[in-house]
Amino acid sequence: MIKINEHYTEIGNNYLFAEIARRVREYKERNSDKKVISLGIGDITQAIVPEVIEAVHKATEEMSRAETVRGYAPDGGYDFLVNAIVKRDFLDRGIALEAGEIFVSDGAKSDTGNIGDILGHENQVAITDPAYPVYVDTNKMVGRSIELLPCTPENDFIPDFPKKTADVIYLCYPNNPTGTVLTKLQLKKWVDYALEHQSLILFDAAYEAFISQPDIPHSIFEIPGAKKVAIEFRSFSKTAGFTGMRAGYTIVPKELTAKTSKGETISLNAMWKRRQSTKFNGTAYIVQRGAAAIFTPEGQKQIRQVIDYYMGNARIIKNGLEALGLTTYGGVNAPYIWAKTPDNLTSWEFFDLLLNKVQVVGTPGSGFGSAGEGFFRFTAFGNKENTLEAVERIKTLFA
Ligand code: MLT
Repeated sequence: MIKINEHYTEIGNNYLFAEIARRVREYKERNSDKKVISLGIGDITQAIVPEVIEAVHKATEEMSRAETVRGYAPDGGYDFLVNAIVKRDFLDRGIALEAGEIFVSDGAKSDTGNIGDILGHENQVAITDPAYPVYVDTNKMVGRSIELLPCTPENDFIPDFPKKTADVIYLCYPNNPTGTVLTKLQLKKWVDYALEHQSLILFDAAYEAFISQPDIPHSIFEIPGAKKVAIEFRSFSKTAGFTGMRAGYTIVPKELTAKTSKGETISLNAMWKRRQSTKFNGTAYIVQRGAAAIFTPEGQKQIRQVIDYYMGNARIIKNGLEALGLTTYGGVNAPYIWAKTPDNLTSWEFFDLLLNKVQVVGTPGSGFGSAGEGFFRFTAFGNKENTLEAVERIKTLFA
């Protein structure tokens, strides 16, 4: 008889964004005459930049000839991409990494979800609340004990250290969903905590490209000692519109070690390499060529324009909501605006109100964890016209 992983019965039937998509689909079926504007899932609306598209076309051409066709990609990614990452994302910021510490993947969602493969189920895990649902769901899937660290206006969205010593800590900065950030000093406290308690920090930096203020770390490896305690996840999804292309990468420093139950020291880099080479066959050559094009001077200029466009939307949303008297957070160093719901509505009540009355979709804060109850997340990834229209429509609710 089949034995299932019973832990799946504890995580609810639907992933958050699948549940929202279901509700929107049902609404549209009932109201086909209405134009729904989505400021919900953080998905791109602007075209992928020409520099990337040209590289993709060229790579596709190469695939059409026996002399230049490519098969399986090397483990960890092609040199042309890995070396560009090492130089442009790190060395240019004063961080020295080896090529063998970079693992190109199909995105940060997979890697933040899969990293648990190399970690024991008995680890005590600490996760900020609210959080990107993948962290909690994937730990629940294997029954790990989780302590949630509330991040609310009361603590300025800066999590306190866990009450139970954490073996594994998930941090995402700039934060999804609150759009808030940690300064270098604030992040250093977590690195020091991890060094003291021999914990591992899983640092999700998917939104680093949206940082606009100084003194906000783009990488946890800007903090001394972090290579001994942290794995960092990066994504091209939001940086360069790769939500449909699928590419990102994970940095597992060679200095990072853990102990086996027999007391042997083991390299997490070696373990992740073993995991990836067994379960993953690499990101498509064509996509890796596209990703490498982001790092050319022209590529950098072009993706910066798109990021600025989205951050213009963030200002439209933030200013628009604040003009209505709503309290908002984020939206300055991140493409997400975290708003307090009006009139003490629950997050889902506000979701229903916006969808039914003005056909605007956002993400209910409680979907990211109980500390998100009473909050609502808007994404800046819409197109400008729709974003302006959504704000105008929301205004009518307050008239
Ligand atoms: C979000 O809206 O939180 C993200 O787009 C979801 C994701 O990156 O998987």
